[in-house]
Amino acid sequence: MERCYKLHLLVFCLLIRPGKNSEVQSFASNLECRTGLKMEAKRNSTGHWIMTVEAESSVRPGGQPRIQVSSDFASSPNRPGTFLLTSTVVFQRQPPADYELILGEGYYKLHTGGRRWPEAMQVCESEGGHLMVIDTQRESNVIRELFAREPKITNAYNIHWLAVGFHDRYVSKRYETVTGQLLSDKFVNWIAGEPHGENQHCGIINKATEMAIDPCTTLWAFVCESY
Ligand SMILES: *[C@@H]1O[C@H](CO)[C@@H](O)[C@H](O)[C@H]1NC(C)=O
Repeated sequence: MERCYKLHLLVFCLLIRPGKNSEVQSFASNLECRTGLKMEAKRNSTGHWIMTVEAESSVRPGGQPRIQVSSDFASSPNRPGTFLLTSTVVFQRQPPADYELILGEGYYKLHTGGRRWPEAMQVCESEGGHLMVIDTQRESNVIRELFAREPKITNAYNIHWLAVGFHDRYVSKRYETVTGQLLSDKFVNWIAGEPHGENQHCGIINKATEMAIDPCTTLWAFVCESY
């Protein structure tokens, strides 16, 4: 997952000189997300200064985001005649019901009943999530954590593996995630001998976080993820 729940936005030093164009300096303090920031101050016909701040973040769409905005406006202690505007924008995504925050990484749900990979993908999507995409080594610990709970996996080909969100169903040997990114930019830990095999295009991972590509018709328990 991408750690992009929060977008902090600090806008400093709005310096307005009557009769002239406003002079605006801005700094974006971006703790967890890639952020694009655009700021514009204009005077309208009744003489009010209107400042518009447009922030673009890498928070992904999907689900219903909750957005909180709070602002503070005060004289700058450092520069007399200058005002300081501080805004905080918090994006908080509401996870789907019964998804659980694990290791502070994100919201996950383990489905213990085996499904074919394409069905598993649909189940996750119908819940407002997607098959788990493991971005980092740290996030792979979520897999260890799920197995450590000794889940009762049923109706699966092998209870030591789970279907997760990577595949090469579109272009053979081009491994990508269900979120459309190259697997090579993510956590990759092929088990010895993998990836290997014709007609094997769906991603799975085992309790030691080793990965393999498998026929999409095999039944596996699976993990859904939501931001
Ligand atoms: C200019 O902006 C102020 C503050 O938002 C507003 O009250 C006023 O109606 C605006 N004037 C015009 C002409 O839109």
